[in-house]
Amino acid sequence: MDTQEEIELSNEELILSFLTEGGDEFISGAALSDKLGLSRTAVWKHVESLRKLGYRIEAAPARGYRLVEVPDRLTALELAPLLATRDLGRVLHYEESLPSTNVRAFELANEGAFHGEVVVTEEQTAGKGRRGRVWVSPPGKNLYFSAILRPELPPQRAPELTLVAAVALCETLREAGAKASIKWPNDVQIDGKKVAGILTELSADTERVHFVILGVGINLNARPEDFPPELAEIATSVAISRGQPVPRALFAAALWTRLEQWLDLHADEGFAPVREAWKAMASTLGQDVLVRGEQREVRGVAEDLDDSGALLLRTPDGKLERVLAGDVEQVRARKG
Ligand code: BTN
Repeated sequence: MDTQEEIELSNEELILSFLTEGGDEFISGAALSDKLGLSRTAVWKHVESLRKLGYRIEAAPARGYRLVEVPDRLTALELAPLLATRDLGRVLHYEESLPSTNVRAFELANEGAFHGEVVVTEEQTAGKGRRGRVWVSPPGKNLYFSAILRPELPPQRAPELTLVAAVALCETLREAGAKASIKWPNDVQIDGKKVAGILTELSADTERVHFVILGVGINLNARPEDFPPELAEIATSVAISRGQPVPRALFAAALWTRLEQWLDLHADEGFAPVREAWKAMASTLGQDVLVRGEQREVRGVAEDLDDSGALLLRTPDGKLERVLAGDVEQVRARKG
C-alpha cells in the first residue's frame, strides 16, 4: 500500500505553508492558532512533530516561529506548501522505494485514479527507460515521478504530450540555472550529456485515450560516482553542472506548475505553441544525425519538427524523411 496524502488534510501541512509564506519573518503562535483554530499548546505539539521529521523551526519568545530548514524529502509535507498547481500533484502517492513509478501509476490509473495524481519515490529498483533500457535511480538524490493524465485526445496525438513535458522540463532546468537543451524526441541534456528522460505509456482504444502515464526522471543531485561506468561519459546531473545541490521539493513544485501550464496550453491551442517552444530549445535541429529506430536507421540533416512531433530529416539524396521514433546520434556538427 502506498501512502496517499491529500493536500488539505493535516495541520502540520498548514503550519508549514504559513511558515513558508512567512519566509524569514517570525509568525506568532497566536496567529497560527487563530488561522488553524487550535490552542497554542496544540500548535506547539505540531511544531514538535515537524521537528522530529527533520524540519528546523526556530522559536523565539514573543515573536513566534520561523522555518529555517526543510528536510530533503518528497512527501506531501514538503511538497504541499510549495504547490501552485490546480490538479497536478494535488493527490500524491509517495513511497520510499518502488520498482518503477510508471508501473505503480499504471496500476493506480487502472483502478480509477484521477487526472493529475502523481506517484513519487526516493529510489527505483527497476526504473524503466525508453526502448527497454534501465533508468538508474539511486536513493534520495534525484527526482523520479509519474503523473496520471486523462487528456481529451485521440490516441494518435498522445505522443505530443512527451514533447509538452520536454518543454516544461527544459524551461524549469534553465530557470534553475542549468544550460539545458532538448535532444529529439525527449532527452534533456546539459553540455551534451543526458540529465533527464521522459517515458510516456498509454492506455487507449481506437477512439480515445483512457490515460497516459507521464514518467519523468531527472538527475538533480547525483554525484559522478552514482553513475555506473557505462554512463559516466554520457550522463550528468544539475548539481554536477552548476556546482551546487538542488532543493528537490522546490524543483518538483516548479516543474509541476510549468507542466500544468503547458498541458493547459496544449489542450486549448493544440500542438503549435509546443512545437515552437520545443524548436527554440532543441539542440538537434541543424545537425547531421543518424537516427536509429527499431526497424531502420536514417541519416540526414535534422531540418524541422513537423506538426505531429516527428523529426524531418533531409537525407544525402535530397529527400525529406519523416522519423517517428528512435535514438539520435550526432554525426558531425554543421557550421552556420
Ligand atoms: C529515457 O530512457 O530517457 C526515459 C527515462 C524515464 C525515467 C522515468 S523515472 C520515473 C518514471 N518511472 C520509470 O520507471 N521511468 C520513468
